[in-house]
Amino acid sequence: MAQLWGGRFTKETDQRVYDFNASILFDQKMYKEDITGSIAHSKMLGKQGIISKEDMDAIISGLEGILADIESGKLQISSKYEDIHSFVESNLIDRIGEAGKRLHTGRSRNDQVALDMKLYTRAFIERTDLLLKELLEVLLHIMKENMTTYMPGFTHLQKAQPTTLAHYMGAYFEMFLRDRSRLADIKTRLNLCPIGSGALAGTTYPLDREYTAELLGFDGPTRNSMDSVSDRDYLIEVLSACATIMMHLSRFSEELILWNSNEYRFVEMDDAYSTGSSIMPQKKNPDIAELVRGKTGRVYGALTSLLTTMKGLPLAYNKDMQEDKEMAFDAFDTIENCLFLFTGMLATITFHKDIMAKSAMNGFTNATDAADYLVNKGVAFRDAHGIIGKMVLLCIEKNCSIEDLSIDEFKALSPAFEEDIYDAVSLETCVNKRLTKGAPGYEAMEEVIKYYETYLTK
Ligand code: ARG
Repeated sequence: MAQLWGGRFTKETDQRVYDFNASILFDQKMYKEDITGSIAHSKMLGKQGIISKEDMDAIISGLEGILADIESGKLQISSKYEDIHSFVESNLIDRIGEAGKRLHTGRSRNDQVALDMKLYTRAFIERTDLLLKELLEVLLHIMKENMTTYMPGFTHLQKAQPTTLAHYMGAYFEMFLRDRSRLADIKTRLNLCPIGSGALAGTTYPLDREYTAELLGFDGPTRNSMDSVSDRDYLIEVLSACATIMMHLSRFSEELILWNSNEYRFVEMDDAYSTGSSIMPQKKNPDIAELVRGKTGRVYGALTSLLTTMKGLPLAYNKDMQEDKEMAFDAFDTIENCLFLFTGMLATITFHKDIMAKSAMNGFTNATDAADYLVNKGVAFRDAHGIIGKMVLLCIEKNCSIEDLSIDEFKALSPAFEEDIYDAVSLETCVNKRLTKGAPGYEAMEEVIKYYETYLTK
C-alpha cells in the first residue's frame, strides 16, 4: 500500500478496501498526461513565486526524468501505489527529495485527474480525427474510380433504383465527415483547463490559471471550480460521438458482409482481411467486418455506463467518477482499432463491377424511369404507375427485364411508347439523368467529388 494520505488515520486500510479503491491498474494509461500537467503546474508555481526557482527547476527535471524512464522501460509503474498521481509524486520525492514535496501546492487530485482525463481525451480526439481522415481518403479514391460502376440502390433491402458505387460510397463519406465535425465541436467545448480549481473551491495561493492553461494548449481556464472537478460532460459527448462512429462502421460492415456473401458477390475481401474455418475448407469469412459490427456494443456500453454513473451525483467530486476511466479507455482503444482495420479492409476490397451492374439490370430498378418516360409523353403519373406495374407483372411471367420486351409489347401496354424507350430505361440513362444536387448522375457526382477533394486538403 502506498498512498499520499494517512496522517489522520489510526488503522491500516484493509487490503480489500485498498484494492477496491485503487485505480493504478487503469489510470496508469495517463502517465504522460499526469506528468505533462504537473510540469505545467510547477512552471506556474515558479513563475508566481509560490515555489522557488530552484525547486521549480528540480521538479521539472525530475518529472522529465520519470517520463523518459517510463517510456524507455527503465521505470515500471508499480501497482502498489493508489493511483498514477501518487506514483508520479512519490517517485519524484524519491528522486529529488524536499522539492518534490512542494509539487502538490495549490492543487488537489480532483482538479489533477480532471486535467489528466481532458488531456487524454483531447489526444484521443486528435488521433481519431486523423484515422477518420484516412478512411475518407480511401472512400474518395473508390468514388473517383467508380463514377460509372452501376449497381442497385435498395430500400427495405429490395432493389429500388439504380445508382453507382461512387454514389453509394458517398453516403458513407458524408457520415464520417459528420463524425469528424462532431469531434471538432466537442473539442472546442472541452478545451478549457480545470487545473487550479483545487479540491472544489479554488485556492488561496495566487495561481495564474491563464498561464497554466496556455502552457497546456487550452483556450483558457474553466470558469467555476466546482463544475471543473465534477464535469464529465465532455467525456459523455465524446463517447456519444464514438457510439455514432461505431454505428456508422457497423452499418457499413453489415453492408460489406452482405455484399461479400455468395448470394450477392458484389465484393470480395482480400485474403489478408479474411479468415478461414477449421472444418469447412471452402470458407473465407469476413471476420474483421463482423468484429467491427460486434464491438459496437461495448462502445454503446461505455456511453450508457458513464451516463448512469453521473446520474444523481451531488456536487462536487465523488469517488464514483473514478468509474469514468475503464470503459472510456476501452471505447477509445476499440474505436482506434476498428477505424484502422476497417480502412485497411476497405482499401483492399475487390468490387465485382459486372455483377453489380447485372444485379441493377435484373431487378426492375428502372421501373420508375419507365413511368417517368410515360409522364414525359403526356401520361399522368398515377396512370403511368399503373401501366408500369402491369409491365413488371408481364416481365415476371416472361422471366425477363423491361428492356427485353419487344416494341409491340410496349405499345400494347400503352400507345405512348416509342423506340426511344430502350434508351430511356438503360442503366446509363437512368443514372446519368439524375442530376439533382446529391444525385448519382455523372455531373452531379463530379461536383460533389470536387467539394470532397477540397475538404480533404484542409
Ligand atoms: N483516482 C481518482 C479518480 O480517478 C483520482 C481522484 C481522487 N480524488 C479523491 N479525492 N480521492 O477519480
